Amino acid sequence: MEDVGSLSLAETFMAMYSSGGCLERFLNRRDGIHQEVMEGMSAWHDHMREVEILAVCMGIVGGLPDEDIKILAVGAGSHDIGKVREGIQQLISAPRHLSAAEMDQVKTHVEFGVYLARASMLDDVSPRAISIIGEHHERRDGSGYPKGLKGDEIDVLAEITGIADTYDAITSDRPHEKARSQDEAIDIARGEARKGRFRERWVEALVTVVTNPGYRRRAWLE
Ligand SMILES: [Fe+2]
Repeated sequence: MEDVGSLSLAETFMAMYSSGGCLERFLNRRDGIHQEVMEGMSAWHDHMREVEILAVCMGIVGGLPDEDIKILAVGAGSHDIGKVREGIQQLISAPRHLSAAEMDQVKTHVEFGVYLARASMLDDVSPRAISIIGEHHERRDGSGYPKGLKGDEIDVLAEITGIADTYDAITSDRPHEKARSQDEAIDIARGEARKGRFRERWVEALVTVVTNPGYRRRAWLE
């Protein structure tokens, strides 16, 4: 078992499973927005919460400083907030593959998320948390979106969130695709590292997290 300071990784999981997610904490501070946004986000709220847990634990395994871990929790826990944009929800839940034009519309969730974070909801957090929202679909080989950033142009916290996001998406039932097993998802993530899209060290941090006996997917829902 990995020791993380005074807490084992398994103990870190338990602490995160029993705490509320970052997104809830932010939204709870803004009464008017809370209800509306949480309702709009129900479809992928669980995904963001799980990505928050995976990303934070990856950061701990990778030895990031505490300050980065806190930013990671906020950014990863709200990375898809832009999916509240009108029209995107219907497209994501459609049980079919999307056209190129529809995919382009879904991709706008990134810039809309940055807009929302800057405009209202996350106005008192680190700019790096907003970078996580804006860069979680960027890939180190330049194949990501919206800007096609490369290598170290992408914030490491966004890269970690992107890996956690990819893993959780693959292991979840989606409208057009059944969930894959943990082993298949790990193979896919390692394949992305071989293509230069993610760094191997952060993919291996994910593998350490999801294969730890203390990790149980969606345990916080139980
Ligand atoms: Fe996303």
